[in-house]
Amino acid sequence: MEGADLIFTAENLSFRYKDEKGTIFEDVSFKINKGEFVCFMGPNGSGKSTLFQILEGFLKPTSGSLEFEGKDLQELLANEVSKKKFHQKVGILFQNVDTQLFNSTVYDEIAFGPKQMNLSQNEVDQRVEDCLNLFNLNSMRDSVPYNLSGGEKREVALASVLALNPDVILLDEPLVGLTRAKRNELIELFDKLHQAGKTIILITHYFQQIKDVATDYLIFGNGEIVKKTGDELKADPELIHQVEEY
Ligand SMILES: Nc1ncnc2c1ncn2[C@@H]1O[C@H](COP(=O)(O)OP(=O)(O)OP(=O)(O)O)[C@@H](O)[C@H]1O
Ligand SMILES: [Mg+2]
Repeated sequence: MEGADLIFTAENLSFRYKDEKGTIFEDVSFKINKGEFVCFMGPNGSGKSTLFQILEGFLKPTSGSLEFEGKDLQELLANEVSKKKFHQKVGILFQNVDTQLFNSTVYDEIAFGPKQMNLSQNEVDQRVEDCLNLFNLNSMRDSVPYNLSGGEKREVALASVLALNPDVILLDEPLVGLTRAKRNELIELFDKLHQAGKTIILITHYFQQIKDVATDYLIFGNGEIVKKTGDELKADPELIHQVEEY
């Protein structure tokens, strides 16, 4: 059954910010299926982060429909039980991590999500330890997230997202401001998560570094948003040239 594998279905989605005249995008339709590794690529200001916030339910589309696993997202979010489930299934790393870090220690930051999930203290501790180890953050467990370097903050925020063990992971420019080695390390981690069955949705401008791990692309530009498979993109030198500019 096709429906079982659908993660997001957008139909004729349009969005404009309140009090702003211009639309950010209009009549956009696409599907994201379970197990895809989708890269959003496009110029600055083209609406990538805006679309992320719509997929996460922070922003409501101005018109059109958006379904998560075949159910209307706004309806899911209107019910406390299904809203909680949705937020356990879908994790998001914001472009500006400072908006995401609000606890007084790295440990508490990572433990925050699991604590909301009615897990036992042992299970919470185990998840935090796993995530601290994953990013080599053990020596920083008592540090104040606010005081960390930009790259360290990104790792703590990412650890806090992964601690929820989400099925779908939205990553808004996690590679910016990192060394090439660190970028490659993170891409390897995203690839592993994908291999483990997670659906990855990644906003990035680093086409050359992600092209071997991404399966699909949502390309923003020229006033439209189009979805392409990796094979379709690789067969289109002009489009490759375009995304390399982003
Ligand atoms: N809260 C807001 N109110 C009004 N306009 C906004 C708001 N947030 C973003 N915008 C505008 O919407 C457009 C799309 O912004 P968005 O952040 O989605 O772009 P982006 O593709 O993520 O860009 P970048 O690559 O620079 O991160 C921009 O022109 C931006 O100025
Ligand atoms: Mg953005």
